[in-house]
Amino acid sequence: MESNRMILRPWRESDAEVLFKWASDPDVGGRAGWPPHKSVEESREIIRTVFNNDTTWAITLKGESGEPIGAIGYGPSCDCDLPARENEPLIGYWIAKPYWNRGICTEALRLMINYICETTDMPSLISGHFIDNPASGRVMEKCGFIPTGETCIDSTQYLGENRPIRVLRLELKR
Ligand SMILES: CC(C)(COP(=O)(O)OP(=O)(O)OC[C@H]1O[C@@H](n2cnc3c(N)ncnc32)[C@H](O)[C@@H]1OP(=O)(O)O)[C@@H](O)C(=O)NCCC(=O)NCCS
Repeated sequence: MESNRMILRPWRESDAEVLFKWASDPDVGGRAGWPPHKSVEESREIIRTVFNNDTTWAITLKGESGEPIGAIGYGPSCDCDLPARENEPLIGYWIAKPYWNRGICTEALRLMINYICETTDMPSLISGHFIDNPASGRVMEKCGFIPTGETCIDSTQYLGENRPIRVLRLELKR
């Protein structure tokens, strides 16, 4: 996927060092509900496992090094605690802190939504964000997601105990 300023491409094991640089920042994972990476080896393992599929992409900017500055993807919502419809995909994303508030995530999400519309017949997408992370909700709203209510996530998740989540859904126009 490509726009004027970015390319979404698969992750590569050679991205492990830059992934560790960004994902070891507690301000990134903590807001999304996952613990900061503790080593380059852990980041490499995430690339080999969590990121190793056809629906997770590295966000890279044209005219820069080609190194990832974030991730975006979608997948089954069955393992999350959101009130998802049957087979409704869950979307997720993060951007490295030095690149926040430049419209990058919104642009990446628009690219991914177009891709989903072109390559699948999924009728809707779901996601959620911690109430104390309004920037994420803003990204979804700018892409047409509508708030559907609030929920709380499983207390075993990182920093998640009784932390309320705002749930949003995008009905895809067919
Ligand atoms: C959430 C995140 C992905 C946003 O990425 P980004 O590239 O900065 O997003 P964009 O620049 O496209 O849009 C951010 C919007 O949030 C707004 N925003 C930023 N901080 C905000 C705040 N404290 N309160 C309300 N809105 C805020 C920005 O003004 C912008 O909206 P605007 O275009 O109307 O001005 C990024 O902050 C991040 O990676 N956070 C940590 C991980 C995370 O939260 N992932 C999502 C988990 S649900």
